[in-house]
Amino acid sequence: MIRIKIIAVAVIVSIVTLGFGGVYVLSEARFRDVTLEAKFDHPISTDAASIEHGRHIARTRGCFGCHGQQLEGQDFGKQWDWPERAVAPNLAVYARDHDAATMEAAVRQGIGADGQALVSMPSFNFARLSDEDTAALIAFLKSAPVVESDLPKPELGWAVRWMFVTGNEKHMAWWADRVPPLRVNAEAEPRLARGEYMALTMCNECHGLDVRGFTLWEPYLPDLAMVAAISRQDFETLIKTGIGIGGRDLELMGLVAPDRFPELSDQEIDDLYAYLSSLINEPPAEGVFWRPDIQ
Ligand code: HEC
Ligand code: HEC
Repeated sequence: MIRIKIIAVAVIVSIVTLGFGGVYVLSEARFRDVTLEAKFDHPISTDAASIEHGRHIARTRGCFGCHGQQLEGQDFGKQWDWPERAVAPNLAVYARDHDAATMEAAVRQGIGADGQALVSMPSFNFARLSDEDTAALIAFLKSAPVVESDLPKPELGWAVRWMFVTGNEKHMAWWADRVPPLRVNAEAEPRLARGEYMALTMCNECHGLDVRGFTLWEPYLPDLAMVAAISRQDFETLIKTGIGIGGRDLELMGLVAPDRFPELSDQEIDDLYAYLSSLINEPPAEGVFWRPDIQ
């Protein structure tokens, strides 16, 4: 009897171990399933104007909000229901220790220094950053003074790993690959082209990869063509404060907008407003995964 019990326990332990082992191995394989594009070799200018421009890119694209106001990193603990514990690394330390090509792969392609896909860093929001702006961003990060910090190790958790194994969740390299290309012809319509560039590198983290709305999960986010219905002045107030029309609380937008957008120049706001308002003349694309039909 005792021997049978021991065998039964051994079998159960092996099945459980194999099960967790399998989920681990298969999820790791997903994170390694990435293709690195050509190594970034754009020249990095380190003059004061380039570094200041890179700081503006970092501020308006939200690096400080997640990686800390001194780029010292941030432990999100269990704040995000996903993954178990997200930890944004100390960016100043990272920039000191890594070359420009490694940094570009993380920022625009969603591929970390270990060659694996990132999970929580919104690289799809930066996929369309130009080479010049990426180089300036890197120059700024490399110039940033290091503030030492003590951060815990990130944890992924079994439930999250399982979602990757089943394909219900996708990593950031997958998302970054699906951002639509910039379409406006910069020579024919420079203002709209500048506005499109801003929209696809600042607003598509939340409002859908083409900023025409996001309905993959709640909260659903509006099609930014709605900007055509508000005045230029109300638009400026809205994106600088994150407070909605009529004083409505916009939740996540209320958190990120005051951190990112107050330093946008008048011209940047004009360009963004012109582009978003122009979208009203164009129906949003159908059959895209971030906007499935709602029954
Ligand atoms: C919404 C929060 C968020 C924003 C915004 C954000 N990051 Fe991150 N970042 C993270 C998290 C979390 C990680 C840890 C890796 C992961 O979980 O994907 C990370 C990782 C990184 C890494 C390390 C990648 C590696 O090799 O492991 C770099 C470099 C980085 N971010 C740069 C940036 C830059 C530059 C910006 C601004 C353009 C930025 N991040 C904006 C959350 C964010
Ligand atoms: C981190 C996520 C996030 C980012 C980035 C973001 N938004 Fe939003 N936005 C939201 C949320 C959340 C709401 C509120 C949705 C709701 O409750 O209807 C919102 C609402 C809005 C609204 C509707 C306001 C109203 O009164 O109904 C506008 C306009 C808007 N955003 C513009 C922008 C623009 C322009 C950008 C880029 C410069 C941007 N957002 C970037 C999350 C974001």
